[in-house]
Order: sequence, then structure tokens, then C-alpha cells
Amino acid sequence: MPTEAEVRPFTESDIGKTALSESFKIDLRTYTEEEKGELFATNLVRDWSMLTWKDVGKPYEVKTYAKVRKDWEKENQKSMPVHTSWQYFNKSFHEWFVKDVPEEMNAFNEELKKNFAAFRPAVVKEVLGKSMKLRLWNYIHRIEDGIWDPRGKRALFEGLHVSKPRILFLGAAEGYEAMQLAAMYPGGEIVMVDYDVFCRDGRFAEFPEHYPFLGENPVTGAPKVWYKNDFNITYLVEDIRNLPFGKEFDIVISVGMIEHFPDEQKPESIDWHRKFLKDGGYAILTTPRAQLKSKLYYQIMADVMNHTYRELMTIQQMGMYIYENGFDILRHGFIKVHNGIIARPR
Ligand SMILES: C[S@@+](CC[C@H](N)C(=O)[O-])C[C@H]1O[C@@H](n2cnc3c(N)ncnc32)[C@H](O)[C@@H]1O
Repeated sequence: MPTEAEVRPFTESDIGKTALSESFKIDLRTYTEEEKGELFATNLVRDWSMLTWKDVGKPYEVKTYAKVRKDWEKENQKSMPVHTSWQYFNKSFHEWFVKDVPEEMNAFNEELKKNFAAFRPAVVKEVLGKSMKLRLWNYIHRIEDGIWDPRGKRALFEGLHVSKPRILFLGAAEGYEAMQLAAMYPGGEIVMVDYDVFCRDGRFAEFPEHYPFLGENPVTGAPKVWYKNDFNITYLVEDIRNLPFGKEFDIVISVGMIEHFPDEQKPESIDWHRKFLKDGGYAILTTPRAQLKSKLYYQIMADVMNHTYRELMTIQQMGMYIYENGFDILRHGFIKVHNGIIARPR
């Protein structure tokens, strides 16, 4: 039985601190108004109705697919079904979140030394390739905290007018962002939905119980540290198209969803954010940015990440999709590796 200190290693007295664990970064730092501008760049477009596709261009499509997908398609003589591609992706991506990065780096160093000494150039090259991916992961996820980006996400999510919200997370994977929202707006309920069962039983189940989310104490309004087990979460393994809900959620969120749909399917995927939203509720969407760093990341990490159709877009391109599909954009901008938009149906 783990002790209280193992399950809840950080308390309110740690607010303001940051630390590195073997697999991820802990970041309980707050921010000033000035720092907020660096965490979440906003106000890039004044009037969405004035923007045209001619101005903004179309998103960048990532075309380097994972080897397993290419092999599967060769063997099966057809393109990989979307659901299958998500199953491959979720298994492959999850493996990286649970790595003990320093330990694996040491193991690579030992392997390199051994194979250098034995003059095995082919093996050295292979180990170098693998260790390069690990170094990139260490930098992007563990040092930069670009994927979870808690401070950027807090800056994106702050100031919503909701109380004890019901939050629907579409394509929830491990569920990170809904938990961050629930920490900031406590006392409500999260419904996570993903049609890959591994997301509930692997990615979410193994999301670290001791990861601290900085949010708010509902009684005093003071900052408070929350953990996964504090939240009221229901995880549904279901296709979003089959959800039984009406317009009953205060917040509907997706993270890295609409960029996986080519243009002819975008209206459907954007409509999912309207279908379950109460009047006056908030749709929150994020998508990966079309920045050079990200292009390089998806190139090097192709075998880990690229099982599905994927676009990288600018905030202007993302906003165009949301705006022309009938939403007013209340807030937009970008955080470390994603664009973020908060919107409401027009
Ligand atoms: C790219 S992931 C979300 C990004 C996530 N933050 C991550 O770290 O991987 C999108 C998720 O949506 C799920 N998904 C895609 N289409 C879906 C659908 N029609 N119904 C339910 N889940 C879906 C996939 O299984 C996948 O886990």
C-alpha cells in the first residue's frame, strides 16, 4: 500500500516549485501577467471575418508514416483503417510516457561504449539512432514539458465563467487536459471518451497518480494541488458518433483531434464540439503548431507518432476552420507546441 507521501508528494507548500521526475516534469509555478504573455501568445487576429484561405494558406500535411503502418498496408494490400491506426499510435506513444529516461540514457551509453570498443559500426549507428529519439523525447517532453505544458494550458484555460462544470473530453487518450481543467474549476464531473480501449485501460489507467495539477481550492479560492484520484471521472470507450448525450456539457474539449481529419471531414469533427455543448458553454480545441521544430519532431519520431493522417497548422488556419464552421472565437493563440482556441457556437 503506497503511503500518503508517495501518492500525494506535493502540497500547497510546494506551489511555485518545479522539479524533474524520471519520466516527466513537475511544474507548480504560477505566473505573472507579463509571464502569461510568453506562455500563451494571443491576439494575433483581430477580425476572423476578414481573413481568407488565400491569406492563410492550407495546413502542412505530415507524410512520413510509421514503418508499422507501411508494412501493414503492404501486407494487407489496403490502407490502414483509422481505428486501427489509432490503436497502433496509442500503444506506441504511451511507451514513451512511462520510460525512466535517465536510466534508458545510461543503458544506451553503456551499449555505445561496448560496441565502439568491439568495432561494430552498424550496431553503433543503430544505437545512436535510438538514443537520438530518446534525447529528443527528453528535451521535448521532460525538459521543455512541451506536450503537457501545464503553465501554457493554465494560461489558455483561465478565466472561464463556469462553476462545477461538466467537462466532455473528445478523443481523451490519457485525459490530461480535462484533469487540468477540473483542477482549475473543481467540483464538477469529467466524461472522457475514446474509442480505443487502450486509452482507458493503458494510457489513462497508467497516468501517474502522483502527478500534481495546480488548480483552485473551491472553498477559499486559494491555489491548491490536485491529483488524478481527486477528480470525478467517467471514461467511456465509445465512438464519438455514438454518444448518447444532448447539449449538456459546460465545456467540450479536444486536444489534437481535428488535424487528423482531411478538409472534407473537418465540418463533422468540428460539429462534435457543438453537439454536446450547453448554451453559453465553451468549446476548447487545440492542434499541433506548424512550426519548424514540430516538423522536425514528426520527422524524427515518425515511427512513434505517424500512424494516422495528420496536419500541422498555424493558429490562423485553425481559426479559419473553427470560424467558418459556425463558431465565434472568444480566445485564440499558441502555447509551446499547440495552438489553442476557446469558442462558442454562433
Ligand atoms: C491524437 S489523440 C489525442 C492526442 C492526445 N492528447 C495524445 O497525447 O495522444 C486523438 C484520440 O482520439 C481518439 N479518437 C479519434 N477518433 C475518434 C472517434 N471517432 N471516437 C472516439 N475517439 C476517437 C483516438 O483513439 C485518439 O486516442
